Amino acid sequence: MVRSKMTSLVLLLAITPLVQATHLTDSLLNKVYNVMNQVSIHSWENGTKAEAILEATYPTLSVFSASDPIPLPSGLQSGQISQIIDIAQTTLQNRPKTNLSSHGGSRLLNDGAAGDPASLGIAVMIAGAATGNAEVNGVSYNDAVNQELNYLLYDVPRTSSGAISHRADQAQLWSDSVYMVPPFLAYYGAVNNNQTLIQIAYQQCSLYRDTLRQSNGLWNHIVGGTGTSDPHPWATGNAWAAAGMLRVWATIKWSDYASDMSSQMNDLQGWITEIFDASQGYIVNGLFHNYMTDTSSFEESSATALYAATGLRLSTLNITNNYVNTSLNLLAAVSSRVNSTGFLTQVVNPNDFTKQGDHSPEGQSFVVLAYAAYKEWDSLGKNGYSNKDDPLGKASAAEMKVVGMGMGAVLGLAGVLGWSLI
Ligand SMILES: *[C@@H]1O[C@H](CO)[C@@H](O)[C@H](O)[C@H]1NC(C)=O
Ligand SMILES: *[C@@H]1O[C@H](CO)[C@@H](O)[C@H](O)[C@H]1NC(C)=O
Ligand SMILES: *[C@@H]1O[C@H](CO)[C@@H](O)[C@H](O)[C@H]1NC(C)=O
Ligand SMILES: *[C@@H]1O[C@H](CO)[C@@H](O)[C@H](O)[C@H]1NC(C)=O
Ligand SMILES: *[C@@H]1O[C@H](CO)[C@@H](O)[C@H](O)[C@H]1NC(C)=O
Ligand SMILES: *[C@@H]1O[C@H](CO)[C@@H](O)[C@H](O)[C@H]1NC(C)=O
Repeated sequence: MVRSKMTSLVLLLAITPLVQATHLTDSLLNKVYNVMNQVSIHSWENGTKAEAILEATYPTLSVFSASDPIPLPSGLQSGQISQIIDIAQTTLQNRPKTNLSSHGGSRLLNDGAAGDPASLGIAVMIAGAATGNAEVNGVSYNDAVNQELNYLLYDVPRTSSGAISHRADQAQLWSDSVYMVPPFLAYYGAVNNNQTLIQIAYQQCSLYRDTLRQSNGLWNHIVGGTGTSDPHPWATGNAWAAAGMLRVWATIKWSDYASDMSSQMNDLQGWITEIFDASQGYIVNGLFHNYMTDTSSFEESSATALYAATGLRLSTLNITNNYVNTSLNLLAAVSSRVNSTGFLTQVVNPNDFTKQGDHSPEGQSFVVLAYAAYKEWDSLGKNGYSNKDDPLGKASAAEMKVVGMGMGAVLGLAGVLGWSLI
């Protein structure tokens, strides 16, 4: 009898979360931000970093702002957004000097991926607006961005259904592309009052979904073409897709065409929540597996961070609070994987998506995005959450172990529970 009570008590302790804060302090979050700046190298990493900087540092310019970010403020000065100017400047300095295609297209950066450099398009547009369309390396920001647009629309290979390839050399769809290309097309269309382009952004999401979606609602990673192939539900790919579609949704909302395009917004909303609904059952120790349904793949924190960011934005955009609780749990687990030097650990290697890596530039940006979303959600009154506790103060599953629990505490707890140990 006594033994069985002891067993129950030990079991109880083993599953009771310790009250251990996982909420990142501002100082640790700053380290995450600095590491993001130091380790981002590739085009999509710089593009994702630019979005993270917009949302965290210049939030009123991001499409997730609740204070109508489109058009940009007319008096915007480059000194007010120096971190975005830096990225746009670097991009133009690295831009290859090539002749225009017959459609006036020229890519922003040399990259085997057609889609990734487009992730920098919004930063370049904003730099154009804030510098009076300055020139860098012999080209103005606006010309560089117009040529990138023409490149995407007319020069990049497409699938037979019309989806713009993620690769430059052949038609091949990657879920990643949904974060890189449609948000740029939509933003360009919204700023220039071109509804056709916003509609193209929406259609591209739809075409990508048609090819990549499995019957269970999760999206495969890479489909079509030759060479690289990954027809499996990669967690980061699902997060890229949901987050990218939400950026398109928000861009439409702030464009002049929101009422005209309410059915497109409804579709996007349905496609985003479809991914969330299909994913919810696959959370283990607070994280998603690198391949969502494959429990033998490692538990991965970077995709998890982008999911959390997106679930909280669904709330701040007044779409739904249904994913708030899940997102808070995900963000708590992610936070517990940030080490003291500001690196997110337990991440997929972004250059070898089946393997765990030592750090992830995009993962750093995802943590910044998630905390930007969290802070706005918090300031709007924690919709969808009724507890008084700090939602991120909870220990993640990984911390659910008995650490340093002395016999005194055991006896104390037994006392509270009215149990006798003798
Ligand atoms: C990304 O930004 C870093 C500097 O932060 C720069 O060194 C690198 O060349 C950029 N990458 C591209 C593809 O422009
Ligand atoms: C651009 O076109 C001109 C004339 O056809 C050619 O001489 C030049 O090599 C081309 N430049 C590049 C960078 O392809
Ligand atoms: C919208 O953009 C497309 C692609 O650049 C262009 O062909 C079209 O003329 C533009 N429409 C308007 C109304 O500006
Ligand atoms: C969401 O609703 C709140 C309260 O009604 C409102 O203040 C806010 O502007 C809305 N946000 C968006 C993005 O529509
Ligand atoms: C989230 O969880 C809290 C309890 O922590 C509960 O009160 C609330 O109803 C939940 N919200 C949703 C939208 O499920
Ligand atoms: C944090 O993680 C990074 C990347 O894995 C590693 O280089 C660094 O040494 C770690 N810091 C600590 C304090 O363990």
